[in-house]
Amino acid sequence: MTVYGRFPAFRARRLRREAFSRALVQENRLHPSDLIYPVFVLEEGPSVDIPSMPGQRRLDLEDLCRVGERCMVLGVPALALFPVVPDRKRSEDASEAFNPDGIAPKAVARLKAEFPRLGVITDVALDPYTSHGQDGLIDENGYVLNEETIAVLKQQALTHAQAGADIVAPSDMMDGRVGCIRSYLDEKGHKLTSILAYSAKYASAFYGPFRDAVGSGAKLGKSDKSTYQMDPANADEALTEVALDLDEGADMVMVKPGLPYLDIVRAVKRRFGRPTLVYHVSGEYAMLKAAAQNGWIEEKPCVLEALLSCKRAGADAILTYYALEAAEWLQS
Ligand code: PBG
Repeated sequence: MTVYGRFPAFRARRLRREAFSRALVQENRLHPSDLIYPVFVLEEGPSVDIPSMPGQRRLDLEDLCRVGERCMVLGVPALALFPVVPDRKRSEDASEAFNPDGIAPKAVARLKAEFPRLGVITDVALDPYTSHGQDGLIDENGYVLNEETIAVLKQQALTHAQAGADIVAPSDMMDGRVGCIRSYLDEKGHKLTSILAYSAKYASAFYGPFRDAVGSGAKLGKSDKSTYQMDPANADEALTEVALDLDEGADMVMVKPGLPYLDIVRAVKRRFGRPTLVYHVSGEYAMLKAAAQNGWIEEKPCVLEALLSCKRAGADAILTYYALEAAEWLQS
């Protein structure tokens, strides 16, 4: 390593001595505008708590609007919507996924009508709508079918765009879906709807509380998603996934989960220099909440440190269930 200064001429502690000089040389900052708030939306009220995600609820449309208002007040630029649909609307063919009167388009339209300047991001994947809880359509052996799934995802993305979604976010990990969705949206006159690709989405155990929240965990049973989501052991493959999604027209790419995968965030940002988001997922939220509720860690500094670490790794924005709390802490 090149040495640019040696003790005692160089002392790292000089600039650490006073708050003003620490502030001047601070390399990264967390700001409410870096945050995206993922929310669970219900077809019918009332809103209900999510036991494995203390502080988060499945929201009815009235509460969703209250949350939209909070985002506007706190300077959180966007919401990401995750629908929770009743069992009777789940099916093998996931047809509810592209129902223009379904909960996702309804929630989008309502939010955009009340808060036109709030960014609305929708999840493009079939897991809220399939009877088996997989993100796509399956064959008789339970294998998730690629092209058949994309045919449904295109329709789903279109209903979201028609309802006014600013950004559609395919989280399904089918091969080639970004390009198909891009050309379908363009063909239908939605060339300015952005695509946020869940490019490097790992088959992670940290999604457990999310699956409780949307009810897909029980449907999945003993099956998993490792025939389409990435192996947590792989890093180079993430770069391939990102390259493909960018080639196919993704405006932003995402790495998911967050803290255990910051090496991937770093590598993606360095290699491509394109808008790179990270998803601080439900299991990460649950761990921090549980430790905080037990008095084992101090919540605010731990959470802000975790989120700042995402920025230090190179993330441009962070999806986090802590978005509102963190924005409040940052403002005070
Ligand atoms: C599914 C989806 C998942 C999450 C976002 N979209 C879960 C999964 O892949 O089973 C997880 C988010 C979280 O854990 O917070 N399309």
